[in-house]
Amino acid sequence: MDKEQLAESLMETGNFWFPEAASALAPRVDVLFDFIYWASLILFVGILGVVFYFLRRYRATPERQKATKQVDHNTVLEITWSVIPFILVLVIFYWGYRDYLAMSIPTDDALEIRVTGYKWGWNFEYPSLGIKTSQEFFVPVDRSVKLIMSSQDVIHSFYLPNFRIKRDVLPSSYSRLWFQANRTGIFQAFCTEYCGDRHSFMLANLHVMSRDGFDQWVATRQAEDISSIPLPELGERLYKEQGCNQCHSIDGSDGIGPTWKGAWGTDRNLTDGQIVKIDDNYIRESIVNPKAKIAVGYAPVMPVYRLDDRELDGLIEYIKTLE
Ligand code: CUA
Repeated sequence: MDKEQLAESLMETGNFWFPEAASALAPRVDVLFDFIYWASLILFVGILGVVFYFLRRYRATPERQKATKQVDHNTVLEITWSVIPFILVLVIFYWGYRDYLAMSIPTDDALEIRVTGYKWGWNFEYPSLGIKTSQEFFVPVDRSVKLIMSSQDVIHSFYLPNFRIKRDVLPSSYSRLWFQANRTGIFQAFCTEYCGDRHSFMLANLHVMSRDGFDQWVATRQAEDISSIPLPELGERLYKEQGCNQCHSIDGSDGIGPTWKGAWGTDRNLTDGQIVKIDDNYIRESIVNPKAKIAVGYAPVMPVYRLDDRELDGLIEYIKTLE
């Protein structure tokens, strides 16, 4: 998929409140939302109408200077204005609870995806298929999908507006979401819990594919032999997939972290006064234990990355190529 197709697919239709609904449950949320919205609007306008009518009807005039006898109560009226709202909120409660249950309990055959949030990106892992992806994930249409989510650092929140689902992603426990897409396309996932200065860049793309397309994608990914990708190429891929590019540039420009361009072999000043040479060991340590050595002029904000040895080698070799 090229950039234009992506942009086109992300240009969503929908209404003022919501982007286009892409699951069977989403329209149910919209109907309830509309009901609460219109009920609130009608009550608001109705109550204000009565207020303004009374203001005018009982205003002080030259003939009506003194207050007359107070009406202390009206049983019929009081019961009416208690019972009607009571029924209304019970209806909304039942309706919301029913839909909440439907949105909480996935079907048994759901495709399981583990979602990991970190500052600042999303990793996806398909345990049953042996596939990992970053910053984007792929699901088949008309099949229920279960997300089991956790965070590597702070609280994030995973939000798929087209599916009307959102839940916090926590560092200490797992949270779940499920959905079943009923149309293909690319949909945007957001982080909706403020988690630091790159919070608004913490996005992921969801690709909903036809069943054949998905099977094909799975076959391609499974056939791919990571161990045969040349190291610098693997490093370049990780640079994008792991979100290194969010903080480290490769064109010399300054970011949240130091640029990688021309960094290899140079000296780096550390906040503790030491000077170290940027070599294999320094890069490795900076990835697996980023707080061990902090470069002067940069905040110690980098999270720990869990990469295997070959991936670490890949990143080191990639940095070497950036003269
Ligand atoms: Cu993660 Cu905001």
